[in-house]
Amino acid sequence: MTSYAGEYRRSLDDPAAFWGDAARSVNWIRRPKQILDDTNPPLYRWYPGARLNTCYNALDRHIIAGRAEQAALIYDSPVTGTKRTYSYAELLDLVARFAGGLEACGVGKGDTVLIYMPMVPEAVVAMLACARIGAVHSVVFGGFAPAELAVRIDDARPKVVVAASCGLEPTRVVEYKPLLDEALRRAEHEPETVVVLQRPQAVAELGPKDVEWRTIMTPNAVPPAGCVTVEATDPLYILYTSGTTGRPKGIVRDNGGHAVALGWSMQNIFGIGPGDVMFTASDVGWVVGHSYIVYAPLLAGATTVLYEGKPVGTPDAGAFWRVVEEHKVNVVFTAPTAFRAIRRADPSAELLEGRDISSLRTLFLAGERLDPDTWAWASSTLGVPVVDNWWQTETGWPICANPVGLEPLPLKAGSPTVPVPGYDVQVLDPSGQPLGPAEEGAICIRLPLPPGTLPTLWQDDERFVASYLSAFPGWYLSGDGGFKDEDGYVFVMGRTDDVINVAGHRLSTGSMEAVLAGHPAVAECAVIGVHDELKGQQPRGFVVLKAGVETPVAQLETELVTLVRTEIGAVASLRRVDVVAALPKTRSGKILRRTMREIADGVPFTVPSTIEDASVLDALTPTLRS
Ligand code: COA
Ligand code: AMP
Repeated sequence: MTSYAGEYRRSLDDPAAFWGDAARSVNWIRRPKQILDDTNPPLYRWYPGARLNTCYNALDRHIIAGRAEQAALIYDSPVTGTKRTYSYAELLDLVARFAGGLEACGVGKGDTVLIYMPMVPEAVVAMLACARIGAVHSVVFGGFAPAELAVRIDDARPKVVVAASCGLEPTRVVEYKPLLDEALRRAEHEPETVVVLQRPQAVAELGPKDVEWRTIMTPNAVPPAGCVTVEATDPLYILYTSGTTGRPKGIVRDNGGHAVALGWSMQNIFGIGPGDVMFTASDVGWVVGHSYIVYAPLLAGATTVLYEGKPVGTPDAGAFWRVVEEHKVNVVFTAPTAFRAIRRADPSAELLEGRDISSLRTLFLAGERLDPDTWAWASSTLGVPVVDNWWQTETGWPICANPVGLEPLPLKAGSPTVPVPGYDVQVLDPSGQPLGPAEEGAICIRLPLPPGTLPTLWQDDERFVASYLSAFPGWYLSGDGGFKDEDGYVFVMGRTDDVINVAGHRLSTGSMEAVLAGHPAVAECAVIGVHDELKGQQPRGFVVLKAGVETPVAQLETELVTLVRTEIGAVASLRRVDVVAALPKTRSGKILRRTMREIADGVPFTVPSTIEDASVLDALTPTLRS
């Protein structure tokens, strides 16, 4: 029997042999002869010269193998009262037709397509259609507002944008089309066509460049597209994620490494094979959605549940149990916040009573730190292993996890268990030396990163190297801090930069600061992430006003909250901005955000000896603690 320890060792001792074996799970058009190109460090490429089509691997080959009638995708939408199952054959038909439609709009191999859609099957169809014709998709999460969308449009320069007329939040309809129109007004780049999926809850007005989804999908309107051959190293998608500055980073995912790594992860981490049912409650706009709603379940020949709703309130905290029972779900994957929300609404899980969830084998949680309390509650409530796993948009699949498909290891509360094969995870001190057990430092991964992880940032190798590979030469800097214990279990304690995690959503305090600083009354500002019982973290803003501003403080505070909501989006969740007299700084002018956060969280805090004026911090302390 293969053991975790043996596989882990093998993956680090001989990565080429390990990932050469794993590559057998993929149907290649030209098999990989070379596994790893390490001639250009610190940039590495997997499977150079090999060719494939990701959509073929996700759909066509399963139909050829006899799975045409098996459910590929189950759309379950409590917010619209819709449930619909798509077999592999039906999904392929839709994807091939939409791919033909994209081709008719002039989209070809290497062109980019931006997708701005909620959790509807058409979002999955659009993504796979891009993969089919070798176009590069970039999905933007629906909770982002025009300014964020415009930045992504200008960076990805899409030939076509695919959008829905609206998304449905429990208490309101979010009209996407006016947000997109505003983003296009702000962006410099102009896409040639906008494809609009009209939803009855808010039908959008169409402009001269807009084409309706249903026009493209009219039977026989365009010929369905076949699979275009791409290089393993060609990009499959770009997914923007928050960095420490206001400018998001375009994470690139390639085709070959991605297909191999996701396939490997389904078998060895998630323990999912053909015919199994996976319910990932996230959003197609996040990496968890890309990997474990869309690509991995389909690459594995499994069934994916696409759930348009919330863990609570659509209609209640029993929604997930209903989905598991009705669709015989084997694996649930979501963020800890979802379970905190369920627990808060239904602490003794009364809504679970009478539900048959016996199909459920494992619950996976990721996206933010899993606090031991939530872990214990989820474990005892569901009676199945609850597996914390740690990763990032950059890696695309887990860095640390309990590899239950390979060998279930003992669980430890507060730890996402051990490094996954392929990842040499070490905790480094500031000089780049690996630290010993229980010593906290920067969590880094020795290069090369395994297949499926980012080869670079979109058209910006320089920024890739500067952001991730320069702090410690030969290592990838994760941006998270933490430690390993004496058994090699990794404990991830939180970001060491200005990225915060709100309800499993990764946000940049830098971009919120940029918005606040843009208000004419603001002289300077700081945004910090403070602890929140439900969402893990919650942003809070502090602003110092320019001299002579006469607007009442309360009015300004409301204006600033609204500004962040309209510029970045509701997802920023910035609900409180305080006008303060001054911000604490070091003598070189750096705002002491970390000390501010520690005071707000009520944990022991350190005041750097380089503080410019300690009385500023004293004056701010009551506001921070309130
Ligand atoms: N489109 C438009 N608006 C959106 C949106 C979307 N796709 N997703 C969220 N929003 C809005 C929400 O409506 C909310 O608006 P409001 O300020 O008017 O209430 C705001 O953005 C904040 O959303 P969220 O942080 O999700 O808070 P919430 O109170 O609506 O829900 C939870 C809280 C815990 C139920 C919810 O965050 C959740 O289900 N989390 C699961 C974690 C998850 O999916 N993480 C993704 C990565 S794995
Ligand atoms: P994202 O790129 O949106 O997936 O966010 C990645 C970040 O979320 C990581 O850098 C961590 O800070 C945090 N994160 C994700 N999963 C975990 C986890 N299991 N434990 C602790 N933090 C996590």
